[in-house]
Amino acid sequence: MSSTPTLESPKPDCPTPCDSVAPSSPERRKLPGLPHSLPYYAFKPWVKLGNPILLFEYLLKTFGNIAHYRFMGTPIVFINDPEYIREVLVTQGSSFVKERTVRRMKVLLGEGLITSDDPIHMRQRKIAAPAFHRQRIAAYGDQIVSIAAGHRDRWQPGATIDIAAESMALSLEIVARTLFNTDVTPDILAINDEVNTIMGLYNFIVAFPKIESFLHLPIPGIMKFRRSKARLDAVVNRLITEHRTAAAAGEPDRGDLLSMLLASTYEPDESGNAQSAGTSPEGMSDDQVRDEVLTIFLAGYETVANALTWTWYLLSQNPEVEVRLHAELDAVLGTGADQRLPTLADYPNLRYTEQVFAESMRLYPPAWAMGRMSTREIQLGPYTVPAGSHVFFSQYILGRTPEYFPDPLRFDPDRFTPEAKAARPKYTYFPFGGGSRQCIGESFAWMEGVFSIATIAQRFRPRFVPTYPIVLQPKITLRHKYPVMMELVPR
Ligand code: HEM
Repeated sequence: MSSTPTLESPKPDCPTPCDSVAPSSPERRKLPGLPHSLPYYAFKPWVKLGNPILLFEYLLKTFGNIAHYRFMGTPIVFINDPEYIREVLVTQGSSFVKERTVRRMKVLLGEGLITSDDPIHMRQRKIAAPAFHRQRIAAYGDQIVSIAAGHRDRWQPGATIDIAAESMALSLEIVARTLFNTDVTPDILAINDEVNTIMGLYNFIVAFPKIESFLHLPIPGIMKFRRSKARLDAVVNRLITEHRTAAAAGEPDRGDLLSMLLASTYEPDESGNAQSAGTSPEGMSDDQVRDEVLTIFLAGYETVANALTWTWYLLSQNPEVEVRLHAELDAVLGTGADQRLPTLADYPNLRYTEQVFAESMRLYPPAWAMGRMSTREIQLGPYTVPAGSHVFFSQYILGRTPEYFPDPLRFDPDRFTPEAKAARPKYTYFPFGGGSRQCIGESFAWMEGVFSIATIAQRFRPRFVPTYPIVLQPKITLRHKYPVMMELVPR
């Protein structure tokens, strides 16, 4: 073992937990951090309910790239080091499960991909993978462009719009079409409303220890949750039944994600263990499909909408970047009477557009933080992290760390040229997570982002109108607290 604080993987010949060598060994260091439990600091300016970013920034500034604190008896470790993040997500990934707040979301998302643990997760991921395969996703390119063009064409030049609301409407229509092969029908709006109601209760739900055991109680927040969840399940179940009925009647594959999830099957493992995950070898049960549909709806809609909103804002503040974006769009897609909509064949040529989207997600990552819980004692470099610790890391904080992104507040898409990316350590930029739980919709999200930006920026140069201040709201995704008003200046 080296005497410098390097990272070490568990020794293959060293059964758990002997990979954590005696804490007295010279390389071991005590985890730095807050000596008291978090409530002790309740009146500090860096402790603000609903905004852990302030706390993370304080920990980084005060203690460096690893720091611990405690909250309600739970040991929590915040890390801001790409090597440690790789250890947690990949190298020692099997020693971690999702942390508690995500696990509590099971009351909404059941055993869907985000919330489930292995072995259920591994099987569900296998079943869902074909629906997200790059080639299948490619088929959605034209739909994305045509929906984005529809929105763009309805916008009045010179009008001032709330680009945040418009981006939500756009990505809702994209999810309706690609997930269910439908327009934004009353059913889709109902799903949206109920999910929003439930997400409004998110803080309440995740703050409730053992929420599952209290679901039957007549507590107002819980009753509201129960009603919303029942309505949500009813709508999604109806859509599943319609899809199954159509398939049974011999209707051709509709090509949407739901049809693909219903058609996907998996082979039982060697032990013939298919039933233990609640599925049959033929495919997913309706309950599982419902959990996955809700998961995809939740994971894939607001994330992209927020990323697009921040992109328009950043472009409006950085005209020199916007000029280069327009130059690429004009070169690839033509100008004036020769202008055409992007197609899949154009995708590889929209490199700068992709860099713009990437840089926007560095400064404003929709998934702004992630966490895991250690199932056993682990080592991060010279530090021992006890079993049962919550380990958090933040795409938002790391993306603004000058060591990896000099002059971090500057919006510079050239940080994402292939050469610049290759020069940075892995896990300095991970808007889609990593390891076995990496975002399954990543290719989809890139395509949605790039095609939406290209289609709209072909026609308009949205200008920020400072009606409301720009205030971050780190909820499940990194939202903007107020409407983001923009004037639609025609190009
Ligand atoms: C800009 C857009 C998006 C961002 C930033 C994003 C980010 C993420 C991140 C960080 C994770 C990993 C969470 C963790 O490990 O704790 C994740 C997982 C996931 N995402 Fe996305 N996502 C985006 C779009 C999408 C889309 C479009 C879909 C589906 C159409 C989707 C579906 C999922 C699913 C199902 C998971 C769970 C995967 C698993 O655990 O196997 N996401 N996403």
